[in-house]
This record gives sequence, C-alpha cells and structure tokens, in this order.
Amino acid sequence: MLENIFPSLQQIPEQWQLGSFREQREYLINGELQIWNGPMNEVISPVTINNGNGNEKNSIGCTPLLTEKEALQALDAAVLAYKNGTGEWPTMSIIDRIAHVAAFLVEMKKHRTEVVKLLMWEIGKNLPDSEKEFDRTCIYIEETIVQLKSLDHNNSTFENEEGIIAQIRRVPLGVALCMGPYNYPLNETFTTLIPALIMGNTVVFKPAKYGVLFVQPLLAAFNNCFPKGVINIIYGRGKDTVGALMETGKIDVFAFIGTNKGASKIKKMHPKPHRLRGVLGLDAKNPAIILPDADIENAVSEAVAGALSFNGQRCTALKIIFVHESIAQDFNQKFVAAVGNLKIGMPWEDGVKITPLPEPGKAAYLTDLVDDAKEFGAAIINENGGATNDTFFYPAVLYPVNDKMKIYSEEQFGPVVPIVPYKNLEEVIDYVVQSDFGQQLSIFGKDPETIGHLIDDLANQVGRININSQCQRGPDSYPFNGRKDSAEGTLSVADALRAFSIRVLIATKDNTANKAIVQTIVKENHSNYLRLDYIF
Ligand code: G3H
Repeated sequence: MLENIFPSLQQIPEQWQLGSFREQREYLINGELQIWNGPMNEVISPVTINNGNGNEKNSIGCTPLLTEKEALQALDAAVLAYKNGTGEWPTMSIIDRIAHVAAFLVEMKKHRTEVVKLLMWEIGKNLPDSEKEFDRTCIYIEETIVQLKSLDHNNSTFENEEGIIAQIRRVPLGVALCMGPYNYPLNETFTTLIPALIMGNTVVFKPAKYGVLFVQPLLAAFNNCFPKGVINIIYGRGKDTVGALMETGKIDVFAFIGTNKGASKIKKMHPKPHRLRGVLGLDAKNPAIILPDADIENAVSEAVAGALSFNGQRCTALKIIFVHESIAQDFNQKFVAAVGNLKIGMPWEDGVKITPLPEPGKAAYLTDLVDDAKEFGAAIINENGGATNDTFFYPAVLYPVNDKMKIYSEEQFGPVVPIVPYKNLEEVIDYVVQSDFGQQLSIFGKDPETIGHLIDDLANQVGRININSQCQRGPDSYPFNGRKDSAEGTLSVADALRAFSIRVLIATKDNTANKAIVQTIVKENHSNYLRLDYIF
C-alpha cells in the first residue's frame, strides 16, 4: 500500500513545488548578513521523489556549517550589544522595544506562504498544521506585546512597605542562547526568542536540526528590525558551536527545546552554572488513562489525535495508552478503525494526516521498537501497521504492551501507539510515579469520584491533567511546563516574559528628601526604569 506513496515531480501541484535548490549561505552577526563560503549542510526533504524507478533522495537546499569561530563572533556581538546591561537595547524604553518587535511581525507576515511551504518540505508537516504553526506564532507575538504592556502598567507604581518606598520592575538577564526543536521549528523557537528579545536581552539564535531553511526569508527582517548585535543567527552542528558558546560563561539564559540528556550536557559546559538560567522544554511520555466507564467514542477520537497528530512528533503527544482490561477489546477495535481512516500522503494533500518523517533513520528506529515489543508479546493490531517505505512509516498500534518492552518507557516521538491493559489503577499510578518524565496526562472517564481521586493521586506528578481530552500545550495563555526530566521553567505568553527577566527594586527610605529625589527623577524623566508613564 505504500509503494506509490511518494509523488513524481509532475504529480506535485504547481503551487506547492519548491522550485530551485535553496543554497542558503547567509548568517547574521552584528547587524551584517554574512556569506559563508565554507562547508555546507545538505537539507534532505522527507518528501522523497519517485523517479519512475524508485525513490530518489530529495536534496532541497543547504545551510552553513559554521565553526566555533563564527559562533563566538555571534556571541561577542550579543555581548557587545548588551554591554553589561548598558547597551541601547537593554536600556531602551519598553514602548520602543515593542515598536521593533511589531515592525518585525509586519515583515514576518509577508513571508507566510514561503515559510509554510518550507515547513511542509523540510519537516513534512501537513498544510493546515504548517499554516497553524505560522499563524499561532504571529498571534503569540501580538499577545506578547499586550502582556508586556500589562506587566509594565502593573509595575508603573510605587509601593510603600515598612517605611521603604519601592518600585519593582522586570529587567533583562543578559545574553540568551535560543535553540528550538524540529517539530515546531518556528513556533517553539519564537516562543522563547521573542520574549527574550522584547524583555531587553540580546540573543544568539541557532535554528533546529531540521526545519532550518524557513529562517532564510526572515533573516533580512530580523536584521532590518533590530539594532545591530541584538539578534545574531548562526547555523551548524551543535558540537561545533554550542559547546564553545557555553564554555565562555557569557551565556546568561539557555532556552532549549530538546532532550534532557542534550540539555544537561550543554548546561554542564557553563563554567558558572548558577549564573545560567534554563528555560527548557524536554522529553515526555504522556499517558492516556482510559477508565472502565469512559465514553469510548470520545476517548478514541481524542487519543488518535493525541497520539498521531503530526505523526506523533509532538512533545505533548499521548505516547502510551492505559486501557482498563474490561473495555480493551472495544477500545482497541474502535481505535484501530479510526487509525485506518487517517489519510496518508504528502503534506499539501487535502485532509492528509500521516506524512513522511524528517529524521534520517527514524523509520528503522520505530521498526526496532515494534520488533522489540513483538519479541516480548505484543502484536501489531492494525492493518498495515509498521509498514515502511523510505521516510514513511505507517502507524503501528501495539497491544498488549508491558514493562519489558522499550516502547513502555522510551519516548518514541513517532507513529507507534502502545496500548497497555490494566486491572487496577495502582498499576497506572505507579507508572506515572516511576516515570522519569512528568509533562502531562489525560484521564478519560465519567465518574466524578474516581476522576477526582485520580487527580489527587497524580497532580503532583505532572504539569497538566486533561479530563476527557488529549494533552496539548495551548491555549498559549495557559502555563506550559513539566516536572522531573520534562522541563525547567514555565512558559505561557505571560510567564515567558518572566522567564527571560528578573525583578529589580529601586528602593528608598520614606523620608522627605528621598521622596523629592524620586519625584524629580520621575517628573523630569531622568530614568528609563524609575518612571510612572503608561503605555497605550
Ligand atoms: O512539541 C511540543 C509542543 O509544544 C506541543 O504543542 O500541544 O500545541 O502541539 P501542541
């Protein structure tokens, strides 16, 4: 069934053809778009082309493989622009910083079609989800501006406690290194990058491993909309660039979405870890718990979307399903039928849900997980489950899964759905408690008492419990975090502004002389920090 999954060039609608090879040699340091003439990294699309004789590797572009030298130049530029907190950017008035970000947003929106197309070709995300990623990011930036104004309004006041008058304001931390993941290379990166910038930090941004080419159309926008050195964009392998940056000790905030092992390794390279703030989104193994009285139709529909949206490549995906043994047969039948209805194909095709995978070797890795599960007694219960063709892996539903299998504890980050039958809820609670991860979970059921008690048992294990719905990050105004190895810090539109800043107090004893000084500073606008103005 997968033989003809990949199109020939002629079969790709003109609108979605990529056109020429994207040779992307530019990178941004200190307000200058530089051209790289050294080694390049080939960008291979997960969308393989069928040339009539079989699949052809689809090389769609290349990006610079910068070295330690350029990474350090980018850092120097960010350090210089921050200037120990006295640079133009960190001391700029909030209204002016907002104007820079708003100007960037206007420019960014002009590149929607191009960015969406590149997301489809680079990471295989389907058209509606690629569009959603772009639009959600624009809304996030708009909301960030609204939240910053509100934060500033709340801070534009004086408090008087125990005879100490104080104004408390949020100020930047320094130089931020922002690195995003390949599954949300635009959205998740920008949900750290934009808050970091708007709070007055200067930034070195290194795009994700895959999902890199889409940055190119935005490079000029970044360069035109921010003062020099405020945002520096580098490309290359992490081991050649990130280590060197950390070892300098000059990175103040490390914003990273990836594995906890990767994050720990990078953090350890900082000579003074206590000076480094981590804003981390890491691994997860979110379970769905299907109680005996669950509305099976709803549980199936939510669990299918939860486990297989973007082929299961979401940190918030449901990565293991615990179903009560009394309803397992019914649930499995309906689940498998729903999976069978998911349309497979190329990202731009109407209604397509399952698409090729961008990580090289991913299909082989998933096959290994499936084989391992089979060895320990699970079966693939859906037709064509686990079938592969090159970068395409047809979703495999495994049942009954047990703790001997790798899939029981390993984050698959792909279209393999393990279903575990359980007798007593204690087995499930124990799984959650023993897990190294603690991002979210979903409970499906009807009985308020059972659900209520389960909430109490699990609320101190994860960051979010979803009732009768799949796990998800949104709405972006809600806190997004995790416990254990799943995250460090909390993100939401408002929380991100806090994550990339620190409160500073300007305080004085309440006496006539001090009040007069403070009043004059405010009245005559002698300070950007100590002020009472209102940003509309
Ligand atoms: O990959 C992790 C994302 O933050 C998930 O976001 O739940 O909106 O897909 P989402």
